Amino acid sequence: MQNNTFSTLFVGQNLIKLLAVDSTNSFLKRMLSNSEPLPEGTVIMAENQYSGRGQVESIWHTEPGKNLTFSILLNPSFLPIQQQFTLNMAISVAIQHALRNITGHGLTIKWPNDIYYLDRKIGGVLIENILSGSRIKACIVGIGINVNQEEFDEQLKGRAGSLFQILHKHVNLISLLAEICSHIEASYLKLKAGNYIRLRDEYLTFLYRYELKANYRQNGEIFEGRIVDVSDQGFLSLETESGIKTYNFKEIEFSQP
Ligand code: BTN
Repeated sequence: MQNNTFSTLFVGQNLIKLLAVDSTNSFLKRMLSNSEPLPEGTVIMAENQYSGRGQVESIWHTEPGKNLTFSILLNPSFLPIQQQFTLNMAISVAIQHALRNITGHGLTIKWPNDIYYLDRKIGGVLIENILSGSRIKACIVGIGINVNQEEFDEQLKGRAGSLFQILHKHVNLISLLAEICSHIEASYLKLKAGNYIRLRDEYLTFLYRYELKANYRQNGEIFEGRIVDVSDQGFLSLETESGIKTYNFKEIEFSQP
């Protein structure tokens, strides 16, 4: 186990820093299938993640040395599979607490777990579960946060942002990682203690466009709706002119404001 100065019980206590890797999630998955069991809370971080993966087979682009790209190993065997989205909630809430300390308000969670500042995405979460029967045996929580990146490619301009663009100063990557790990540990332990009602309330409070009227798109059709709930299974409920409708991830898109 590698030593570090994180003031946590287990998240980040075994910190493996890589200069370059395809994807920290894939690296952690390979380690789990090839080596001795790893301690819960192991963190793999990479300075240069050259083939990062995002939600629904997308690619996660990040400028080497400027941003946080890391994966955390958790073993939430206490969580029934039907409630696995509560872990997404716990992780998203923890990131909000860690980043709001430096950004203030304006930071939100865009359902299901994008990290937004105003109308720009500044980070994302990719959670991959390894199942054993009806339980979650291991969970790889991959997190990418745009920290010190000053500019984005043409195709991402106007949609992606970074902490540098918000704060106009650089942020120390390891200190920020330590802060996030500490909030994730606290949130995770609350979930483990069965205390997730509060997490769920916080998740909703931090939600982008929560209870606001906005436009959504489904099968090319734009309609107005108001987010009223997200279930423990991760379904989004919108109040529309034809009543409350519930959507799975990727069934609808948020229209740009
Ligand atoms: C998304 O919003 O699409 C999720 C992005 C998740 C990116 C992180 S970076 C660290 C970890 N390793 C990966 O390959 N992906 C996640």
